[in-house]
Amino acid sequence: MSDPQATPPGNIAILISGTGSNMQAFIDACEAGHLEARISIVISNKPDVEGLRRAAAAGIATRCIDHRDYDSREVFDAALVSALQEHAIDLVILAGFMRILTPVFIEPFLGRLLNIHPSLLPKYPGLHTHQRALGARDSEGGATVHFVTPELDSGPPIIQARVPIRDDDTAEKLAARVLVEEHKIYPLAAQWYMQNRLQLSNTGATLDGQAIPESGIQYP
Ligand code: GRF
Repeated sequence: MSDPQATPPGNIAILISGTGSNMQAFIDACEAGHLEARISIVISNKPDVEGLRRAAAAGIATRCIDHRDYDSREVFDAALVSALQEHAIDLVILAGFMRILTPVFIEPFLGRLLNIHPSLLPKYPGLHTHQRALGARDSEGGATVHFVTPELDSGPPIIQARVPIRDDDTAEKLAARVLVEEHKIYPLAAQWYMQNRLQLSNTGATLDGQAIPESGIQYP
């Protein structure tokens, strides 16, 4: 029986643009009790994407806010902010959300806005990360969960998972193996946030009051 005195779980919003496999990892982590949170809304900037169908199938409220309906990034971002304000959101999760956000969105959610990037940041901000890692003959690829600040893909890292690169790797094969790790580290970072263990301070990210190293906590 649930305890009526218990603190209600925090509200998460997830922003997607496509498949939503990271979003699905959040749904699964909530159902399994690994993430003590409620996913209140999933928003996509693209209609008819797989992620919206997956969220609806899990009984989560969905919304499409199509960036093409707005004249500027700032006006689009303001529409996102007002949609989220309807849900008393504690934490915003960018999960394959393929729009560059402006301070209009970032500032109201600073410190409670996370992203996952498919590289070992600070290496390879931007696109085509796996191809770039292969082209540079790196020995490993990976993914980084980080706080979002106004600079693209360069907010303070929280947690990083490393994946060895194989001789016969292609960008697709490497991406698939990195994605498996993404699904572990992203809900874990959110759980730390929900437990009030994770914070963005003036000097970077902290976990349990300790500064997180510049490349993030290494998983596992
Ligand atoms: C992931 O590789 C994530 O790191 C990047 O976009 C991809 C999203 O995949 N930001 P999915 O939509 O979660 O399956």
